[in-house]
Order: sequence, then structure tokens, then C-alpha cells
Amino acid sequence: MNLAGSLTDGSERTAAQRPAGSDPLLGVLAAVLAGLAAGATRIAGLSGRDGAAAIDAMRALGAGFEKRGDGWRAWGTGNGCLLAAREPLEFGGADIAATLLAGLASTYDMETVIAGASLSEPDRTALIALLAETGAQLSAAGGLRVHGAKVGSPVTVDATKAAPQAAVAMLLAGLNAPGTTSVRVGRNFPRAVPALLRRFGVPVTETETPSGLVIEVTGQTALSGTTIDLAGIATATVIAIDGPAGGGKGTLARRIADYYHLNHLDTGLTYRAVAQALLAHGLPLDNAAAAETAARQVDLTRLDRAVLAAHAVGEAASRVAVIPAVRRALVEKQRGFAAIPPGAVLDGRDIGTVVCPDADVKLYVTATAEVRAGRRLAEIEAHGGSADFGQILADIRRRDERDMGRADSPLRPAQDAHLLDTSEMDIEAAFRAARDIIDQVLAVGKRD
Ligand code: C5P
Repeated sequence: MNLAGSLTDGSERTAAQRPAGSDPLLGVLAAVLAGLAAGATRIAGLSGRDGAAAIDAMRALGAGFEKRGDGWRAWGTGNGCLLAAREPLEFGGADIAATLLAGLASTYDMETVIAGASLSEPDRTALIALLAETGAQLSAAGGLRVHGAKVGSPVTVDATKAAPQAAVAMLLAGLNAPGTTSVRVGRNFPRAVPALLRRFGVPVTETETPSGLVIEVTGQTALSGTTIDLAGIATATVIAIDGPAGGGKGTLARRIADYYHLNHLDTGLTYRAVAQALLAHGLPLDNAAAAETAARQVDLTRLDRAVLAAHAVGEAASRVAVIPAVRRALVEKQRGFAAIPPGAVLDGRDIGTVVCPDADVKLYVTATAEVRAGRRLAEIEAHGGSADFGQILADIRRRDERDMGRADSPLRPAQDAHLLDTSEMDIEAAFRAARDIIDQVLAVGKRD
């Protein structure tokens, strides 16, 4: 299971596996678009094996690329005007570049051989099935041999099960097809892709549907050169959600992450994992040295919600959470997670104040202690259990006191947090209210 998948109820988030700050997919896309656009493009921040392979391939298809200082200067062929490559395009294992080039070539009535890709299953089969939708002739001779249909046609494909690069390959196929190509993409699809396409003048729309995000491009339009700094494009959007236990922030955070196609980390699970490690070894919860060691060993890919959800683990978590060395170790991991493009929703107690003080949007989600106790009771009863309301309320108040009263990173709203009191809201109403806030804040940010 991949990193965020294990944190987000099994949904796929391969974007979360990339090291912070590098996104070869965006680099390759920038190189391909620069090689296609009419006029000159400057690209800063293009590096790595995939970037280099994409440049070589675009050169072989007629584009000009020249190294200028730290960046590249490209002269594109003009959209629809690629030349047939005289030799097979060699990718040397640069699979992202190979995938995008295969998509690009699939709507050209010429033979292109993609060689040296090491595409493994199921990515290879998924890509070939998608490419076949364009009407291209595909064969395995010498690698992957692609010959686009004589008369291209736009396609409507579902790429939700394929790797994000395969979805981007189909959008590139759409650039030389007449009309509108429509690609349904998975949750791990980088939101920077449509933005990058627009930078080169590609008409793109993004539509949220109940079954996912649909991206459409209009083909056979003129693309124009531009100036791109990839470091600026691959930044992460961070949404911080804080609040006391039972306010509804966990459910809300998951819904928001799904909706905005961001990764999700329930930071409470990281404190619970530390507590669980101590409990499992029979160690006292105030053993700071052991707790710090456990915190350093927390693996964000292996947080098992089923085990960590136990009430006793939550109680124990709020006790290890007062240990500064534990907080330091966990905060470092949480910040690393947040920095991975396309960004993340983190929920916890100190996200807006300590973990991500520069988050794009901060929400503080709360409800009265009575409402929270009532929700907890309903949850227990729904699972066939029974409990005493007064007992739960006392527990919640004690946990609030400990979380709000501790010296290190106490629970409190950040100064610039938006308060969301869900006492009188169900989850749908809370989700709508949260979306209104987030849309407004992100829209203002974009205009700056
Ligand atoms: O949210 P959850 O109930 O899983 O959190 C368990 C405990 O972990 C909290 O009561 C709190 O003491 C601690 N915690 C924290 N900082 C966070 C998340 C959780 O101190 N960011």
C-alpha cells in the first residue's frame, strides 16, 4: 500500500510518495509543451532523468532546446507540427517521459517508437488500453511502436485507475485531436497539470463530478511559448484543520482532502502510534526517552486506524503529547508530509499554530462539549455498545483541559484561523461551510 493510501481509507495517492519539491511529471509536461508551442519558452527548474529524456525526445520530433544558465530555452514546432523521428526515441528507464511522449505521438499519423522504457504492470497495460482509444496502431516491436490514426478523433476516457502520467498522456493525445478530449482522473492527479497546460494557452476545463474530476482539453489550437519556473508550480497547498476531539474535524478533513484532491494526514494518529508503542511494550507513558524513540520510529505509511482508534489509545496519546521531544519528532514528519505536492489537509491540535503556520487555509472546528459527548455516545451505540453520557462528557472535558492547558503547543485557534462551530450542523452542512471558506480564501490567494 502506498503512503497516503494507508492514511486515507485505501484511496490511492501516489503523489505522496514523491520527495518534497520534485515533480518529474510537471517537468516532463513543461518540456513537451515547450517543444510543441509556437515561439520561445524559458524553463527554470527542469532536471532529472525524465526531464532530460523528454528534451531529447522533443528534439528528435523537431523542437529546439538549448541550455541557458540554470535553465532551458526551447523553440517549439507549433501544435500539430511534430516531425517523424528518424530513430526510435530512447528513454533509458525514464518512464514518465516515455508515457507522456507515447500519448503525445498517439494522435500523429506517423510512426514513433518508444524504446528503453521499463514500464511495469499494471501501468503498461493501463497505458496501452488508454492509447488504443485514440485509434492509434500499437505494437510491442522494439519497445512500444505507436502509429496515430489517419483521421484523429477526440476521446473520452476514464483514467482513474491509471497512474497520473497516463492521464496526462491522454490529455497530450487530445492536443492534436479535433474537438474536446475528456479524461476522468484519479485522486492522485496533480492539480498543477491543468494550470501548466493553461500557461501554454491550452483551453482546459476542470469539472468535479460525483465520480471524480474530469479534465477536458480542446485540441488543434495554437499553443504559445511562455516562461515557467517549475519550483513555483510544484508547490503544495496546505489546509490546516484544528479543534478538540469530537468536533467533526476528522470526517471533515477527509472529505476536504477528497474534494480538493489533496493528501490527508490525521496527525492524531501519529500521537496515538507513539502511545500504542509504549503500551505494547508495557512502558510508562511519561518515559520521555522511550516516547521520543517511538516518535522517531513512527512510519506515516503504517498508521493503522483500526488499532489506533481505541479509546484507551486516545487517552494515552494525549499524555505522550505533552512531551516536547515527542512533539518535535512528530512535527518534523508532519511538515515533510505537508510539503509534498500537490499538498495536504492535516488535522490535529496544533497544525495552524505550530506545524504549518503558513498554511493556505486554517480552520478551527469545534462544537460544545455536550454536543461532542452526544456524538460520541451515538457512535458507540451505533456500534452496538453502550456508555454513560455523563462519563463521556467528563472524559471530553478532561481531554480538552489537557490539550488546551499543556505548555507545549496547546490547542487554540491560530490568529488567522476561520472558526467553524458545528454544534448545530450535520456533516453535510459543515462540509459546505468549510468549502465556502476554503474556496473564498484560495480564490483571494490566486488574485494576489
Ligand atoms: O485527534 P485524536 O483524538 O486522534 O488525538 C489524540 C491526542 O493526540 C489528542 O488528544 C492530543 O493530545 C494529541 N494530539 C496533539 N496534536 C495533534 C494531534 C493530536 O497533541 N496535532
